[in-house]
Amino acid sequence: MALLGIDLGTSGVKALLIAETGEALASVTVEYPIYTPKPLWSEQEPEEWWQGAVQAIQQVMAKAGINGSAITGIGLSGQMHGLTPLDKDGQVIRRAILWNDGRTAAECAEYVQRAGGEAQVRDWVYNIPSPSYTAPKILWMRNHEPENYARLAHILLPKDYIRYCLSGEYATDKSDATGTGLLAPKHRNWSDEMMQALDLSKDILPKLGEGHEITAQVSASAAKLTGLAAGTPIASGAGDQPASACGAGIVEEGIVSVTIGTSGVVFASIDQMPQPGASGISPLLECFCHALPNTWHYMGVMLSAGGSLRWFRDVVAYGDASLVNRQMSNRDPYDIMLAEAAETPPGAEGLVFIPYLTGERTPHRDPLARGAFVGLTVRHTQAHMTRAVVEAITYGLRDSLELIRQSGIRISEVRAAGGGAKSPIWRQWLADIFDAEITLINSSEGGAFGVALLAGVGTGIWKNTKEACASTLRVTSRTAPTSDAHVRRAYDDTYAEFRAIYPALKGHFHALAKG
Ligand code: XUL
Repeated sequence: MALLGIDLGTSGVKALLIAETGEALASVTVEYPIYTPKPLWSEQEPEEWWQGAVQAIQQVMAKAGINGSAITGIGLSGQMHGLTPLDKDGQVIRRAILWNDGRTAAECAEYVQRAGGEAQVRDWVYNIPSPSYTAPKILWMRNHEPENYARLAHILLPKDYIRYCLSGEYATDKSDATGTGLLAPKHRNWSDEMMQALDLSKDILPKLGEGHEITAQVSASAAKLTGLAAGTPIASGAGDQPASACGAGIVEEGIVSVTIGTSGVVFASIDQMPQPGASGISPLLECFCHALPNTWHYMGVMLSAGGSLRWFRDVVAYGDASLVNRQMSNRDPYDIMLAEAAETPPGAEGLVFIPYLTGERTPHRDPLARGAFVGLTVRHTQAHMTRAVVEAITYGLRDSLELIRQSGIRISEVRAAGGGAKSPIWRQWLADIFDAEITLINSSEGGAFGVALLAGVGTGIWKNTKEACASTLRVTSRTAPTSDAHVRRAYDDTYAEFRAIYPALKGHFHALAKG
């Protein structure tokens, strides 16, 4: 018997089959395009999501050598925040507007103004929306495409469109729903106040479930298309970040994950919903419903984490990717760069990098923030520069960790994931700069794994998500922070400089960004 996790990402959809022991049986990813018809726009075709999902489901069953009747439950995860607008007949009205679309700055302001100010927004829905969020996208449609808006009968988040195609149900989960800006996390329910303030009808909202709850079943027509069995239960699932957190065991307070991909995400599960404005609670840290009942999470997002190092590799260190391939036929260029950087001392002898190459979300919420090297001298080599870039990414992630610590959460362990976690050198620097133990776990299947576990909980394999994680996950590596006080001081001093540079340069970044 097997569980199926489907993760509808931004570049492709992944279908993962796991056994009830948690062992991965097979996984298949099918890609689809992103459309950018205008600057700042980012859209996808929901029909291409669905076609991709159908292929991924068929192929993963073939690869694992099982048929639909062996699948006892399905979980859905995916890119968060995207608006999929449907008419009264369930037809897609226009392409979905994605989380990384930047067209709604004016509607974000309209949202806050209609609610009566930021304090009111914080009280009702906790988070001040960025252009990622769904609600400003609905307002944008109303302001700019009135003929489309007039047809709007249902909104769905990206993964929930797959649920709709699989089952005909309009449903979502509470973690993904928080990213609409229309859900009150403290009540774990849609916010009547916010819907009224925005003059939106509650009829457009899908029904809500906790992550493990079964909100739909595979329909006969979808069964015919996919090879799944009609009636297979579908759990609510979770947005990609909380789903990955479930897949990494970030389901209790104290264990935090740091995921270093192109972006960097710091994620902490919390047992109580914070009070906005209470002491230590920063408005810069997002708080969403987690995929477990009565559980929430903090999240800090760094836009260019691994992305900064990739930029440095391609543009500065090796000039272009073909050169990398020619020179480094066997060794990973990142391994070579980190080994060279490790020959330089902590703090890179007075060199600091600012990693805001695509603006920054946490802690500055500033799309016009920019990158910089500060403190260059003729003594500095490329190895110092690599070290400064990697330290800067780690300091940027520490900013989010510090906000979590200030809110009163005691961090006992940091689980590292994503490409950056593969390097033992970087893991040591993470431990030293965070002053926390860094661990790795046995699964790297991410969100698809997390929602397969949720489906297992929903169908009774495990009592709850904590038990599902405990019976399938284990720590495979531990890195303790250094006991060398000099090293710690060097990092702390450099971190203090790193923190001071952005406010000093902010005005210049903004002036240059307009040029
Ligand atoms: C979460 C977020 C991203 C997207 C795309 O707030 O913006 O994780 O879900 O992956």
